[in-house]
Amino acid sequence: MTKSKIAVVPGSFDPITYGHLDIIERACKIFDKVYVSVLRNSSKQGLFSPDERIDLISGVTKHLDNVEVVQFDGLLIDFCQQVKADAIIRGLRAVSDFEYEMQLTSMNRKLDSQIETMYIMTNNNYSFISSSIVKEVAKYGGKIEDIVPPLIEDALKEKFKEQ
Ligand code: PNS
Repeated sequence: MTKSKIAVVPGSFDPITYGHLDIIERACKIFDKVYVSVLRNSSKQGLFSPDERIDLISGVTKHLDNVEVVQFDGLLIDFCQQVKADAIIRGLRAVSDFEYEMQLTSMNRKLDSQIETMYIMTNNNYSFISSSIVKEVAKYGGKIEDIVPPLIEDALKEKFKEQ
């Protein structure tokens, strides 16, 4: 029996956008099992709590039966080892992503050379989207229906109503 291929799609997902969802859906076609792992990015301030992010990601990935959404407080590579991942999948939007992604990949490879990092080019329709931009537009009541699923749009509206 051949071993099933396992991927981890890591991110801060604060909140998940159509750009992330596109990468997750494409990873699901290639890998037998895909863990969407919510991790801490120490250089970013969070809007949604880890539990809220998990609920939102779970809500918009319901149609994908080989996805599991997990929160992990620690190093990405430790999570990958825990779930015996073969690969880390990241989306690449533009050249501006490259430098940070190269650092991340090189460090993760240093920590564990057996786990390969692979990049999927973001769909052109979503190459300008980031969670930070979505939050900014939502905060001032701008239109975000083309860039996040309805569940996320509602959650953002609710969040900014509370603040
Ligand atoms: O969506 P993001 O914010 O670009 O994702 C970055 C993330 C969360 C994947 C990265 O910050 C991360 O891996 N955090 C967990 C701690 C860790 O392993 N840091 C990287 C060591 S090279």
